Amino acid sequence: MNKRDNPYTPGAGRKPRTLAGRDQDLESFQSLVERLDAGSYERSLIYTGLRGVGKTVLLMEFDVLASEAGWATTDVQEVGSNADFRTTFAGMANRLLMNMSRRHRAKQRIERALSVVKAFSIAIPGGVEIKLDMETSSGVADSGDPERDLADLFREIGEVAQANQMGALFLIDEMQNLDARSLAAICMGFQAISRAGLPVAMVGAGLPDLRVRLLSAKPYADRLFSYEELGRLPEPAARSALIGPAAAAGAAYDEEAARQIVQEAAGFPYFIQEYGRELWNFAETTPITVDDLDSAREIVKDSLARNFFGTRFEMATDTEQRYLSAMASLGEGPYPVGEVAHAFGVSDQRRASMHRDSLIQKGLIWSPRRGQVDFTVPLFAAFLKENHPVG
Ligand SMILES: Nc1ncnc2c1ncn2[C@@H]1O[C@H](COP(=O)(O)OP(=O)(O)OP(=O)(O)O)[C@@H](O)[C@H]1O
Ligand SMILES: [Mg+2]
Repeated sequence: MNKRDNPYTPGAGRKPRTLAGRDQDLESFQSLVERLDAGSYERSLIYTGLRGVGKTVLLMEFDVLASEAGWATTDVQEVGSNADFRTTFAGMANRLLMNMSRRHRAKQRIERALSVVKAFSIAIPGGVEIKLDMETSSGVADSGDPERDLADLFREIGEVAQANQMGALFLIDEMQNLDARSLAAICMGFQAISRAGLPVAMVGAGLPDLRVRLLSAKPYADRLFSYEELGRLPEPAARSALIGPAAAAGAAYDEEAARQIVQEAAGFPYFIQEYGRELWNFAETTPITVDDLDSAREIVKDSLARNFFGTRFEMATDTEQRYLSAMASLGEGPYPVGEVAHAFGVSDQRRASMHRDSLIQKGLIWSPRRGQVDFTVPLFAAFLKENHPVG
């Protein structure tokens, strides 16, 4: 079929034509917005999941819903690239205020809030001052203590939002990148907001260990946020993720072909998009058949190897790659670190810990519990076994 009309969207943060299996999430987010609008309290949300399950895309959808409800949003912001997380938050606060100022009647209140953002950004060690043409206010959000200052900043945003009868939404992606101190400050800030009943919400997304990281930063993080896990799509949703985009473009799948693809893609959104794209390009006519699948299977595998697995594998150094292969040689995860160290070729697992930590830092593996590691990339073990076996 015509490549130009291909309706599939494999990639990072690419909005799918059919957002499958997320109705519940959209509904509960909608109700969060409504409750905060009505002056009630609702916990902010944390979404966790492996690579390619659709975290970023869902955040983008929340952005649309919130904007439609008249809220100011930060857009989806990836954290962790700035040396100090406060730099990112200063930018987000600035953005929210600019957004609100378009509708705000009390210009002076906005200006005061902007001066607080400026003071906040000046207090960041080595941070760059946000260029704002106004006096810095003193005594609010400028103590240099991240926990206190961020709470002040959130409160400032919340008060302006409340005065303007709208909400403000922080959308934070790759949140597992933040260290314990930054996560603790965010928890403190949101606790202050919730106590004051201000209409500010956050949706954070990250790899599966984000929850544990938040808990170890602040034990009350457990009660502060609602946690949702994204995983494989259940069979009917996976099927509609596959069939939906084609149907909208006037094409279909044979029953058996659809069943096999969903099974081979193991219900993972990214894989479904990749199958869909390659099969669309390969098939001459609709409906797409099992014969098409059998003939195009190697092309799909090759695409996945290059676009998904390969790019992740390349992020690791040679030694780290050996560590990944050692993990895969043990079969299905999670893997006891002692056994991985053994397969990696060292008897003392402390000698492998440097590589393990670095792989966790790079977001390629995570630790489901003490003494265990697992891949953050779904079906990575099978790929590694086939393409990069130990030795
Ligand atoms: N609900 C869904 N239905 C269909 N396709 C989806 C859905 N969610 C995501 N996708 C598709 O899956 C792919 C991955 O989505 P996304 O980038 O949001 O994943 P992610 O969880 O943020 O991954 P990463 O951890 O690598 O950032 C994209 O190609 C997207 O189009
Ligand atoms: Mg993402």
